[in-house]
Amino acid sequence: MINRDRNWWQDAVFYQIYPRSFFDSDGDGEGDLAGITAKLDYIKSLGVDAIWSCPYFVSPKADNGYDVADYRDIDPSFGTLDDWKTMCDEIHKRGMKFFMDLVVNHTSDEHPWFRSAAASKESPYRDYYIFREGKEDGSEPSNWMSVFGGSTWQYNEPTDDYYLHLFAVKQPDLNWQNPKIMDEVADIIAYWAGLGVDGFRLDAFNNSDKDQTFPDVETMPGEKYGFASQHYVSRPGVDEYIHELYKRELGPKGLVTVVELAYCPVQKAIEYCDPAREEFDMLYFFDMLNFDQEGYDKFKPIPFKVSDLKKTMNHWISNLHGKGYCALFIGNHDQCRALSRFGTTGKYRERSAKTLANAMYFLEGVPYVYQGDELGMTNTDFQSIDEYNDVEVHNYWNEHVVEKGEDPEKVLEILRERSRDAGRAPIPWDDSPNGGFTTGTPWLRLGAEYKTVNVQAEDKDSDSVLNFYRKLLKVRHGKQCIIRGETEWIDLDSDEHMSYLRKAEGETLASLNNFTDHEVTVCLPEGFNADKAEILLSNCGRDTLGGTTVKMSPWECVTAIWKD
Ligand code: GLC
Repeated sequence: MINRDRNWWQDAVFYQIYPRSFFDSDGDGEGDLAGITAKLDYIKSLGVDAIWSCPYFVSPKADNGYDVADYRDIDPSFGTLDDWKTMCDEIHKRGMKFFMDLVVNHTSDEHPWFRSAAASKESPYRDYYIFREGKEDGSEPSNWMSVFGGSTWQYNEPTDDYYLHLFAVKQPDLNWQNPKIMDEVADIIAYWAGLGVDGFRLDAFNNSDKDQTFPDVETMPGEKYGFASQHYVSRPGVDEYIHELYKRELGPKGLVTVVELAYCPVQKAIEYCDPAREEFDMLYFFDMLNFDQEGYDKFKPIPFKVSDLKKTMNHWISNLHGKGYCALFIGNHDQCRALSRFGTTGKYRERSAKTLANAMYFLEGVPYVYQGDELGMTNTDFQSIDEYNDVEVHNYWNEHVVEKGEDPEKVLEILRERSRDAGRAPIPWDDSPNGGFTTGTPWLRLGAEYKTVNVQAEDKDSDSVLNFYRKLLKVRHGKQCIIRGETEWIDLDSDEHMSYLRKAEGETLASLNNFTDHEVTVCLPEGFNADKAEILLSNCGRDTLGGTTVKMSPWECVTAIWKD
């Protein structure tokens, strides 16, 4: 199905599936494509317009599928190509669109291209990757630090040199300066477009162009490797590569893209989504949720302040207003659970889950709901390092506990709080063993609260987080003030609430959100006629704002709308 209206997504809501944890249809303990198909009515019932699924291609799963060994086939643990076709058809039958993850900054080291390239300097695939000789003393070609810790270079014995991997050792970077990569990727896009995909989430694509002189960078005291993003983020090649893909495949076929951007300067982001440049459609700022940590280190959290969240959102939204759209998300598969991080898991758990959604999803942008957030899932309570799966976790453990001898209990505590696995638990469908996710042994521990926080229980409860999400997504659609209205913050510096107005064409929407355990007063701007406001959503049964001075209960949220 090809949709030639490139802008349909501006009023859309996306649902993000992490397939390994969604639903297991065959009892092997891992979610699969037939499992997604089986649950499409559930996804549709949320009121979403499009689905983006994380990867399910043939992969050794060193980084859970972000290490692709065959771009044209499905990993047997996820099913078959026929399962994919059925899934895609069924998604379209329900009037939704389907986006796949295109992971082409790197491949798996088990991809046939890399196997050949690593085996011999004469390989026709040698220039598909980036190999360099070590320095004179035999050490790595540069002191760049990998995103997942350690060096970005891995020694390759058969050819006595090193290959570049910005991510894990098993994720060698493709050499986009070789035009053959463009041809290969254009072919991959054409292949999936032919099978019916509607768009792509481009993984780590603003890392595709590297400064191939590989200069050494500064390091932190006592560290061997340094953060080198200035040499591989948003360089000119990225514009060139995506524009060519746009011209060759994406544009003519009406395929829409959302690009993951990490460490991207705002001016560059504006260029990326300028329609005249024919590059990307939506922007997904990986670092949108980096404000509660020290610099780039996710394992060094700093206490959450709602004012920091607002300032971050304001930064992107005010700069992009009228120029482009960013994805709005409170969590994804690279983060711990939003509720554990920004909300509360105590008495006001449910209220705060609703408040987070209400605060985020009425901003300017395209909402992306990460599976399980609509249930109010919290971080998984892992008991030992052996229960973790993620390569990032194990690299961190090795560096901090095994090599540096740090206190294992302290490291486990931080991993429970901040690891990616904390947000990747299987979806609980009911309160049966393993939450009805699988009849086998789940690949990752379920969340502790699955007996009560599960789809079946929340479906029946009209007051549940799930049913709040359904209402929210319903009232969100079709309103100009939400799609393109200006954002006027109320008390941007407040550390107690996140509140704003959205205005367009004589219509104003107010989203008021108390982020504390106590009562908070939100003062609406002068001249605002609170009596005229219609309440669209409330997590405390409110049916009026009751004036311009709104006294809000702990973790209360309300959304109201009126016409001038
Ligand atoms: C992206 C993905 C993340 C993955 C990384 C390397 O950031 O979201 O899960 O580990 O790219 O592919």
